[in-house]
Amino acid sequence: MPVDASSLSGEGQTICVTGAGGFIASWMVKLLLDKGYTVRGTARNPADPKNSHLRELEGAQERLTLCKADLLDYESLKEAIQGCDGVFHTASPVTDDPEQMVEPAVNGTKNVIIAASETKVRRVVFTSSIGAVYMDPNNSPDTVIDESCWSDLEFCKNTKNWYCYGKAVAEQAAWDMAEEKGVDLVVVNPVLVLGPLLQPYCQC
Ligand SMILES: NC(=O)c1ccc[n+]([C@@H]2O[C@H](COP(=O)([O-])OP(=O)(O)OC[C@H]3O[C@@H](n4cnc5c(N)ncnc54)[C@H](OP(=O)(O)O)[C@@H]3O)[C@@H](O)[C@H]2O)c1
Repeated sequence: MPVDASSLSGEGQTICVTGAGGFIASWMVKLLLDKGYTVRGTARNPADPKNSHLRELEGAQERLTLCKADLLDYESLKEAIQGCDGVFHTASPVTDDPEQMVEPAVNGTKNVIIAASETKVRRVVFTSSIGAVYMDPNNSPDTVIDESCWSDLEFCKNTKNWYCYGKAVAEQAAWDMAEEKGVDLVVVNPVLVLGPLLQPYCQC
């Protein structure tokens, strides 16, 4: 029998959302609070006014903690994830600058999965991207993109599409690390996410 997700309560469960102040993550924090979860959000600088909208969300005063964490600082991530039931890993650079993109996306994702394994989190949900699976010049316009598809890394490099390159390598690293560590991983590949901003301004 199908379960009506809207009727499920998150009361008593704690979820970590990485990059909590970002566009998509802010909505995750809001919806998790609305469903009764306790939320641990990470930000590189929780005191930055760009994250202040999170503290205004309904339920935030009682059930939201913001933790300082950088994707390349394993201990900071582990501290944020410790004691959580689940992790939404959404933090990622969104840029075509290879130096800013690739290492934080890939090593940051590995760090999250390792920390989730060490702290015995029940499930990690990783926000990947269509860019990780679609960017292949051999695809025809009617190719159906499914779990067997990956972006062509050489093509991404040659076209300097470092965002898609970084997301593809990060997702592959996530699957490999989750298998090695026995972590229950779910990956979401959004195309273009549109809608109202919860944060005071767009960072893009
Ligand atoms: N928006 C879309 O249409 C779309 C489509 C497909 C996939 N996605 C994916 O969805 C996720 C969120 O995207 P978004 O549009 O919401 O982006 P966003 O608003 O730019 O948010 C990205 C977040 O990542 C954090 N971040 C970046 N580099 C970091 C680092 N080195 N350490 C820790 N945190 C870091 C930023 O935190 P700080 O505040 O610390 O800078 C920011 O909160 C990304 O993984 C993106 O690839 C987005």
